[in-house]
Amino acid sequence: MEGSVSPVRTQPKHGLLLGWAEKEKGGFQKPVWAEGEEGHLITVAPTGAGKGVGCIIPALLTWRGPAIVIDPKGENYAVTARRRRDMGQKVHVLDPFGVTDCIQRASLNPFDMLGPLKQASYDDMRVLAHAVIQEKVLSTKNDPYWDSRAASLVTDAIEYCVDHLIKPTLMDVRTVIENYDRYSVCATSFSPAPVASAHHGILEPFAPLGMGTERTRTSITSTAMDQLNFITGGAVANSLFHSTIDLKKVERGDPITIYLVLPPNKLFTHAKLLRLWLITLLGAIGRREAAPKLPTLMLVDEAAQLGEVKEITTAITLMRGYGVKVWTFWQDLTQLAKVYPHDWQSILNNSAFHQYFGASTPMAARVLQEYLADTCPRPITSLKNNQLALYRPGHKGTVARMPNYLTDAMFAGQFDANPFYTSEPELALVDEDYEVHEDKGGVLLHFPAREHT
Ligand SMILES: Nc1ncnc2c1ncn2[C@@H]1O[C@H](COP(=O)(O)OP(=O)(O)OP(=O)(O)O)[C@@H](O)[C@H]1O
Ligand SMILES: [Mg+2]
Repeated sequence: MEGSVSPVRTQPKHGLLLGWAEKEKGGFQKPVWAEGEEGHLITVAPTGAGKGVGCIIPALLTWRGPAIVIDPKGENYAVTARRRRDMGQKVHVLDPFGVTDCIQRASLNPFDMLGPLKQASYDDMRVLAHAVIQEKVLSTKNDPYWDSRAASLVTDAIEYCVDHLIKPTLMDVRTVIENYDRYSVCATSFSPAPVASAHHGILEPFAPLGMGTERTRTSITSTAMDQLNFITGGAVANSLFHSTIDLKKVERGDPITIYLVLPPNKLFTHAKLLRLWLITLLGAIGRREAAPKLPTLMLVDEAAQLGEVKEITTAITLMRGYGVKVWTFWQDLTQLAKVYPHDWQSILNNSAFHQYFGASTPMAARVLQEYLADTCPRPITSLKNNQLALYRPGHKGTVARMPNYLTDAMFAGQFDANPFYTSEPELALVDEDYEVHEDKGGVLLHFPAREHT
């Protein structure tokens, strides 16, 4: 049914606003929704093109299901947290460096991904170890062999902590590895009771097998220590110490919104922390036995900064039916191909909805144009600043106006100020004539019918 209806009613149950469709007479007046329980999204946009105002913030202001959002500057939290709470969401902010003004900052101990410790499987411990050991990261300086050996050592140390400690943390894992020689040299035959922390407890010797010669052992240990260094700062260690976020609730798909805040100047040094959070949260989603009522929306801004995260590829390509929608954001296609050299095509093919905000360089434009070929009705270089190309694999693309929460009437009154802008812009509200598109199941990209004159 066409017509102007209230903003809430206009949004389909699983709808995410992708843009405003162009009318033949000119102007962009009807919303284009990405619909369906399944269906990942991908946005390719140069810096400053409008991912925040056009995608991430509009999604958080309207998405009724649980959400996990990478929020480097904490601006998504500032602008949308009130609205998320008003929608019945419990808001958590993982913000170890205190970027936001949130008083009760959340923390998350990745050991929770193992479930009850007594039943923890070695395979899950391996997943946890790989979340902290980013293979190939050191490969320019080091042979990746050492990363792989270090991952095995960390897995053994995790198992050791699970067996010996009441509430193990990653700091304990580091301590055990750091004191590896001490633990292995003073071998004793008694079995001490579990203790609270590796710093204070009396522990059995930690002597993983197959560590080789003294020199090999030193290399493996120092690689593991290097890779674990990011947790040693007080703020980060505190944020990993115990969990204020109940992973069971994430698993059940309860109404929870989690903001993952890591300032841009720490993204390079602490990208592993973000990876660790994401892998821990995706691990909880991966334990689902049935899809929740509403999928969890995972907004992965600056996806390239995380390096290759296999769990993200898995979520996009294999986790159908688990109730997760992953929306990744990239600066250009070359960046995607560089970070995911083996999986970039699968990521594109398995993302049901694509947004392309133009390109900042001739080379990026050429690559994009080649990928889109004749699916986009206009050359990508001819898009105006407020336009984007929408595309769904296997379908014709279209050009739409970017959403903008600051000026689109449907978001009026829902958002708070962005602290990065001292004065909010003059709001020239665009009174859109939006309409209802009911979701009839499946993944549909609705381009409203063009009006004929
Ligand atoms: N609250 C605001 N007030 C005024 N201008 C804003 C506000 N928020 C964003 N802008 C402007 O809107 C444009 C798009 O900003 P946005 O934050 O969405 O970009 P982005 O693609 O997310 O950039 P980045 O790569 O820096 O994350 C920019 O020119 C920005 O300066
Ligand atoms: Mg942004």
